[in-house]
Amino acid sequence: MNLTLKVWRQKSGSSAGEFATYQATNIIPDMSFLEMLDVVNEGLMEKGEEPIAFDSDCREGICGMCSLVINGIPHGGHRGTATCQLHMRHFTDGQTITIEPWRAKSFPVVKDLVVNRSAFDRIIASGGFVSVSTGGTPDGNAIPIAKDDQETAMDAAACIGCGACVAACKNASAMLFVAAKVSHLAMLPQGKVERERRVLEMVRQMDAEGFGSCTVTGSCEAVCPKEISLGFIAQMNREYFKALLKK
Ligand code: SF4
Ligand code: FES
Repeated sequence: MNLTLKVWRQKSGSSAGEFATYQATNIIPDMSFLEMLDVVNEGLMEKGEEPIAFDSDCREGICGMCSLVINGIPHGGHRGTATCQLHMRHFTDGQTITIEPWRAKSFPVVKDLVVNRSAFDRIIASGGFVSVSTGGTPDGNAIPIAKDDQETAMDAAACIGCGACVAACKNASAMLFVAAKVSHLAMLPQGKVERERRVLEMVRQMDAEGFGSCTVTGSCEAVCPKEISLGFIAQMNREYFKALLKK
């Protein structure tokens, strides 16, 4: 496959960025999107040019590091698929592909396609944890948990913290991410003890980081590589108002 890439290049957060055009030639359809970028970068380095900076780590949809807006859609628009799991066979020979970083005030650009997502880390640090040691892995039936609760908690726990939900939202809202973390912990016995303090603190930190409000457009759910449901936002809102009333 031969492709034309329009890639956002930006030397640093304080410098102006612009699109640069590159040709990606002899791309194997079974390559992942990031492998395709590796090939382009090898060509750039052979010519003595600066390679395109982009984030990745696990390359198997687990770590949440990969973060590209591909043809205007975070992660490229294939349901339940992170950028690192996207394969070139989904594109057509001769296609032009536009590649940009996440665009949100709370995720400032570091370089090219790399953004700083430490705002998410600060939200987790504000309350997205269980304070006491919960010990080693208990036997499966030592703490009875209703099967529905356990499955819903695990669905929420699937969030990999990539930030695509923020990048897709016209308000740059982080509600889907925060809701997944709040719901996951609130549904399990180990996390229930601190549920009120947790939701109040995490929402406070989310607002302090400058993320916008949720207006339920559903764009976050549509691009989420782990298909986190909008229903978790409703669950977080219930947690939040119950916690406010108790306070
Ligand atoms: S909710 Fe989905 S899109 Fe948002 S950070 Fe978690 S995995 Fe990524
Ligand atoms: S590189 Fe880890 S989720 Fe994509």
